[in-house]
Amino acid sequence: MTARHSTPPATRQPTSSGYPLLTVRDLAIHFGSPHRPIRAVDGVDFDIREGETVALVGESGCGKSVTAMALARLLPEPAARYVGGRIRYRSMDVLAMAAKPLRALRGGEIAYIFQEPSNALNPVFRIGYQIAEALRQHQPNADPRVETAALLRMVGLTDTERTARAYPHELSGGMQQRAMIALALAGHPRLLVADEPTTALDVTIQAQILELLQKLQRDLGMAILLITHNLGLVAGVAHRVNVMYAGRIVEAGPTANILTTPHHPYTRGLLAAVPQLTGSADRLTGISGVVPPPDRLPAGCRFHPRCPLARTPCRDAEPDEETTGPQRTVRCHFWQEVSA
Ligand SMILES: Nc1ncnc2c1ncn2[C@@H]1O[C@H](COP(=O)(O)OP(=O)(O)OP(=O)(O)O)[C@@H](O)[C@H]1O
Ligand SMILES: [Mg+2]
Repeated sequence: MTARHSTPPATRQPTSSGYPLLTVRDLAIHFGSPHRPIRAVDGVDFDIREGETVALVGESGCGKSVTAMALARLLPEPAARYVGGRIRYRSMDVLAMAAKPLRALRGGEIAYIFQEPSNALNPVFRIGYQIAEALRQHQPNADPRVETAALLRMVGLTDTERTARAYPHELSGGMQQRAMIALALAGHPRLLVADEPTTALDVTIQAQILELLQKLQRDLGMAILLITHNLGLVAGVAHRVNVMYAGRIVEAGPTANILTTPHHPYTRGLLAAVPQLTGSADRLTGISGVVPPPDRLPAGCRFHPRCPLARTPCRDAEPDEETTGPQRTVRCHFWQEVSA
């Protein structure tokens, strides 16, 4: 682990360097007994480069949060079993890391924000105290008062004295979300994992939080993994998109390409389900059924029971990952039909 905390975030490179920050290869995470595994994540590959925003998109239960929590080994072990693959963060092999460097990785390199600020903010402590505690852990040489005020300003909370004195319940939902982001930034992370960060918010506040994340990504040169079930949300925010289904990435590519020419019928279904103004995209309008539970995955293509294009090979053989263009991959026997 490098000592990096004396560097103020504003001095970092503002744009993506293209240097790989995180590499996930063939990652498999099971719960349950080895005899009857719950294959929550089952052969996942993706990369995040320095300063880049990457989206992980899919319906409820497809394995997004399990993948995200694994990046800093936050899943409860031994209930969660890393049965295959690897996670490389900079030069570190995350799955082989000892407890001490793992603690430094969490928050200091990879920080998380969640749908519910209550997952991150403690209701019985003032906001300022909680940020100061995070600073004490990750930036022991910083002046906590000055740094807390700077962090609160950075996330758009201008009345910093009052916000620092407030308890979480005294803030609105949007302000709580901003305070949680400030807390996450206290360790100057290189990677911010945002797991459904706007799902609980109304659309106006949703847009403001997404704008804030974009601004932070630009200003701090921070990479972001944006997790959402709403493919519409990633337009203009993410550089690249990974579409996840039943524990696997079924399609990946640059955002604009994915949105205009999806190759996988599942991606097409997610696009059709994008809420136009408000509402939930939890259920796909064009495709019936739900994600199969990870202990009862179907044979062949995991999407075939719900797929309008499914035919014999789909029921028998799981499609390999195919490269279909620059930075684009898909797992579908008939992707050319989807794209036609
Ligand atoms: N501790 C656990 N024990 C057993 N199964 C688990 C555990 N944690 C997650 N799972 C299972 O792993 C699968 C993937 O869960 P995950 O939370 O990653 O889904 P998700 O894509 O984040 O969904 P959502 O959009 O609802 O947040 C689910 O079927 C879930 O039930
Ligand atoms: Mg989740």
